[in-house]
Amino acid sequence: MQRLAILASGTGSNFEALLQAATDGRIPAHIALVLTNNPNAGVAHLAEKAGIPLWARSHKDFSGRAEFDSAMLAAMESASVTAVVLAGYMRLLSPHFIRAYAGKILNIHPSLLPAFAGGKGIADSLDYGVRLAGCSVHFVTEEMDTGPIIIQAALPVLPGENTEALHGRIRQLEHRIYPQAVHWFARERLLAQGRHVRLLPAGQDESAVPAAPSPDGCLINPPLEYGF
Ligand code: GRF
Repeated sequence: MQRLAILASGTGSNFEALLQAATDGRIPAHIALVLTNNPNAGVAHLAEKAGIPLWARSHKDFSGRAEFDSAMLAAMESASVTAVVLAGYMRLLSPHFIRAYAGKILNIHPSLLPAFAGGKGIADSLDYGVRLAGCSVHFVTEEMDTGPIIIQAALPVLPGENTEALHGRIRQLEHRIYPQAVHWFARERLLAQGRHVRLLPAGQDESAVPAAPSPDGCLINPPLEYGF
């Protein structure tokens, strides 16, 4: 069974959704460690409350990114972490960190990639005037927000909607697609071939999983399976 590290810098709502799914058995993986570069972040309090081991250090107390990332790697090694889930981790990862878990790092981004990569995906989408916004789960490679895409969800932008309101609706979709993507990963159903990720059928030990309907007005691909 995979032992996951969750890296996050903010409120931690995606961490909560993943924890819920791991606790109720929808994600066949163990959340072994939460790491944050912001000890005051909501995610730190949530992890403590849930009794999940927490590594919380400010990156400002380190001489640079490489040193900070090495400290995270050491903590992850002590916790026997096998894969990494970025859930609102607002820092770039150094190449040696990414290489240490090559093909085993997932990220969620609040836009329909490759549009609006970077730290302001939602504000940039609204400024641009898009009619459809959304979120993407992808494997992490050394270049930011460009790894092979696992699942995306799209939703219409409402007239006059501001960043906060749109982010709230995108988060609700994130809480559906991220646990689903981590489930597929933990079940070894994702096969990355260059830029393309193939979703393998459920194994013989699982009964065929029917697709669940997308929330009203949204489009999710590949479709969510029942339970997500
Ligand atoms: C999410 O919207 C995610 O797409 C982005 O950061 C946000 C984290 O939100 N990378 P939360 O801390 O999980 O609530």
